[in-house]
Amino acid sequence: MIIKSLEHLNRLSIKIAENLSKEDCIFLIGEIGSGKTTFTRNLINYLQILEKSMLTQVLSPTFNLLYEYELKNYKIMHYDLYRLKNIKEVSQLGIFNENIKTVKIIEWPKFIKDKIKNKIELKFSYCKNENERNLKIERFGKWKNFKIDEI
Ligand SMILES: Nc1ncnc2c1ncn2[C@@H]1O[C@H](COP(=O)(O)OP(=O)(O)O)[C@@H](O)[C@H]1O
Ligand SMILES: [Mg+2]
Repeated sequence: MIIKSLEHLNRLSIKIAENLSKEDCIFLIGEIGSGKTTFTRNLINYLQILEKSMLTQVLSPTFNLLYEYELKNYKIMHYDLYRLKNIKEVSQLGIFNENIKTVKIIEWPKFIKDKIKNKIELKFSYCKNENERNLKIERFGKWKNFKIDEI
């Protein structure tokens, strides 16, 4: 589908946020500037508004690899694995070795080989129009029935 504007991207973020539950995983794929962090910022800020908690900054974790957001029902782990070079470096992070289940939103997940049950993959790419993005969605587990026709 075509994401026609930033407002349209925001509606997609909200729709996914509303279906999110603990242990879900969102893979964000696409070149630099394609909208991965903007999607994540919209999603986290929308959930913070719903909970009437303080809006936080949602910055790109390019250098820190991870920023964490404590929400009422679950924690969101926002990763950016751009700087990591191979499967070993990524597996050493232990993203899925956790006692308490969290939501994971992962930019540049190409070196993740774990089998993940409830995963949605968003693949962004540029369009001719600089305010549009092409989006392909792949669904696994509970997301298989997820529809985004009218947003
Ligand atoms: N329809 C759109 N969808 C996503 N981003 C858009 C769109 N139109 C313009 N942009 C701009 O593109 C940039 C995307 O940057 P960012 O979200 O940081 O990308 P990434 O995390 O993929 O590197 C932002 O400056 C955003 O405002
Ligand atoms: Mg980013």
